[in-house]
Amino acid sequence: MREAPKGNRFRDTWGGTVRSERAGQEIRVAGWVHRRRDHGGLVFIDLRDRSGIVQLVFHPESAGGAFALAEALRPEHVVTVRGTVELREPANINPNLATGEIEIAVLDAEALAESDTPPFAIDEDTPVDETLRLRYRWLDLRRQGMLDAMLTRTLIVRTMREVLDRRDFLELETPILTRSTPEGARDFLVPSRMNPGSLYALPQSPQLFKQLFMMAGYERYYQVARCFRDEDLRADRQPEFTQLDVEMAFVEEDDVIELMEAVMGAVFAATDFGVPPTPWPRLSYDEAVARFGNDRPDTRFGLEIHDVGALVDGCDFKVFQGVLDGGGVVRALNAGPRELSRSELDGLNEVVQIHGAKAAAPIYVENGGWAGNLAKFFTAEQIAAVNAELEAKDGDLLLFVADQAKVAAASLGALRLHLGERFGLIPEGRHDALWITDFPMFERDESTPARPRWAALHHPFTAPRGDLDDPANVLSRAYDLVLDGVEIGGGSIRIHTPEVQQAVFEHLGLDGEEAQERFGFLLDALRFGAPPHGGIAMGIDRVAALISGRDSIRDVIAFPKTASGADPLTGAPSPVDPAQLRELGLRSAVEPPAAGS
Ligand code: AMO
Repeated sequence: MREAPKGNRFRDTWGGTVRSERAGQEIRVAGWVHRRRDHGGLVFIDLRDRSGIVQLVFHPESAGGAFALAEALRPEHVVTVRGTVELREPANINPNLATGEIEIAVLDAEALAESDTPPFAIDEDTPVDETLRLRYRWLDLRRQGMLDAMLTRTLIVRTMREVLDRRDFLELETPILTRSTPEGARDFLVPSRMNPGSLYALPQSPQLFKQLFMMAGYERYYQVARCFRDEDLRADRQPEFTQLDVEMAFVEEDDVIELMEAVMGAVFAATDFGVPPTPWPRLSYDEAVARFGNDRPDTRFGLEIHDVGALVDGCDFKVFQGVLDGGGVVRALNAGPRELSRSELDGLNEVVQIHGAKAAAPIYVENGGWAGNLAKFFTAEQIAAVNAELEAKDGDLLLFVADQAKVAAASLGALRLHLGERFGLIPEGRHDALWITDFPMFERDESTPARPRWAALHHPFTAPRGDLDDPANVLSRAYDLVLDGVEIGGGSIRIHTPEVQQAVFEHLGLDGEEAQERFGFLLDALRFGAPPHGGIAMGIDRVAALISGRDSIRDVIAFPKTASGADPLTGAPSPVDPAQLRELGLRSAVEPPAAGS
C-alpha cells in the first residue's frame, strides 16, 4: 500500500500496514473477520483487509459493548473498530505476520455486515473443488493465493504500460463487435437485431485494426486487449483471454524483438522472476522441432532429440528400416541412467501414441553395446555410431521413435517433457526465455482430405520471407516468445503491399472476389500508403500464470470459464427468452437444457 486511505467513519489506516512505530496511537481499521479465537476471557480477531491481517484484542473490561459484539462475530463478518496500537509481549510476537509485533486493543467496534458460513475455508490454502471455487468466486478471490495472483497481474500490466509509455506508444482501443479476424479458431458470433440475419464476430485478436492504425500513421500502438476464440479449452487456453497487443511502423524483426525484450525484461525484474538477461537466444523453427520436438521448447533441461536415421540405415530391424525406406525418420533421445520397470516402459508407449507413433523402443546401454533382443539387428558400427551421437554411457536408457518426421518429432517431444517431469530434471528456480524464428509460412491443412489446402501457420497478414511461388518451403517473418516451454507471445512483420497480400490469399484458397468480400477494407488500405510494419501480442494470462507458478491460467483470471466454457458463477452460457431470439430473427434448433442441468 503506497498511502493510507483517506480517513472516514470506517477507517483511517490499512490494517495490514500497522507496525510497532505506531504503538500508543489510536487508529481505525475495517475489514473481514479472518479468524476468531477465545482465550481466557479475551477475544482475538484476525482482521483482514486488502493490505493484510492485523490482530484485534477485545478485553471484557475495556471494550464494553464491543466485547459482546466480538463474541458474536464469525468468519467473514465485516466490522470497523477503533483501538489503540499496542506492542505484543515478546512471547506473543508472530514472525509470520507483517503486523506480528503489534495488536490493536479495541475501544469500540461496529458490525457492518454478517456472513453465512462460507462453503470453504478462506483462511487456509486447502485444495477446494474448482467448480465450487468458481461458483463462489467472490469468496475464492478473498483467499491469499488469488489475491497474490491478482496483485501479480496488476504489477505485470502496470510494468508493461510504463515501458511502452516511455517509448511513446499510444494506448488505443479497437472494436469488440466486428468482423471475423482469422487467428485459426472459431468465432464467437453476436446476432444483430438491426440487421436481421447478419452477425458480428467477436475479435480473435485486434490484428487488422492495429495494422490499420499503422496505415493511419499512428506508428506505435498498444492495447491490453480482450480476445475471443471458440476453441477446445486447456489449462493454458480460455475462450476469452487478454493480450498485450503491440504494433509499430517502420520496423523489422529485430526492432520488435528488442522492444519486447525491454517490456518483458522489465516485467520479470518487477516480479523477481529469474529469467536470464536480454538478449534472449533465438532458435529457428526447424532447429527447435529437430532438437526438442516442438516449436515451444522447454530448454531448462537436456534430453535433446537426435536424428539417428543415417546411422542405422541398412539395419536388419524391419520396423526402423521400413520407416526409413518409406521416407520416414528414426530419432532418439538419451534418457540417462534410468531404471524403469516394464510397466513404466510400456507407459512411455502411451505418451507417444497420443501423437500418432506406434511405440517408443527402449534400449539399455551395456558394456559399450546394447542390451536386449533388438541389439542383434544392428551392426557393431551402427551401435557405436548411435552411442557416440547420443553420448551414451553404460546404464543409459535410449528411446527411439521411427515414423514420419512430424510424428517422430511430436512423439519424442512429448516423451522428453514426460521424462523431464518424471525425473524432476528442471532445476528449481530456473527460467528460460527464447525466441523462435523462421517459421514456415504455410502448413498443409489436411482436415478435409478430399481438398487439402495451404493454411497460414501464423495468420494470413504475416510477411513471407522469400519466394511465394514455393509454398511448401517459403518461410515467414514471424517470431514467437517462449517461456519455460510455453508460448507466451507471437507476432510478425506484416505484408504491406496489396499485391503480396492478394497472392497470400490466393495460396490460402481465397479467390479475388472472396478476398475482396472479406478483407476488402484491408486491401483498400494497403493501396493508400501503408508503411512497413510489424508487431506482436503477449498472452498476459499465460505470463501471469508462469510468474505466479500456477498450472492453469484459470488461477490468474478473476472470473474464468471452466474447461467446458461455462461460468458456474453466473450460469453463462444460458438459454434466452424465445422473445429475445425472435427479435434477433433466430430460432433455436435444439431444445434448451432443462432448468438446473
Ligand atoms: P497469437 O494467436 O499467437 O497471435 O496469440 C498471441 C498470444 O496470446 C496467447 N493466447 C492465448 N492465451 C489464452 N487463451 C487462449 N485461447 C490463447 N490464444 C492465444 C498466447 C499467444 O502467444 N494477432 C496475433 C499477434 C500478432 O501477430 O501480433 C495473435 O493473436 O500466449
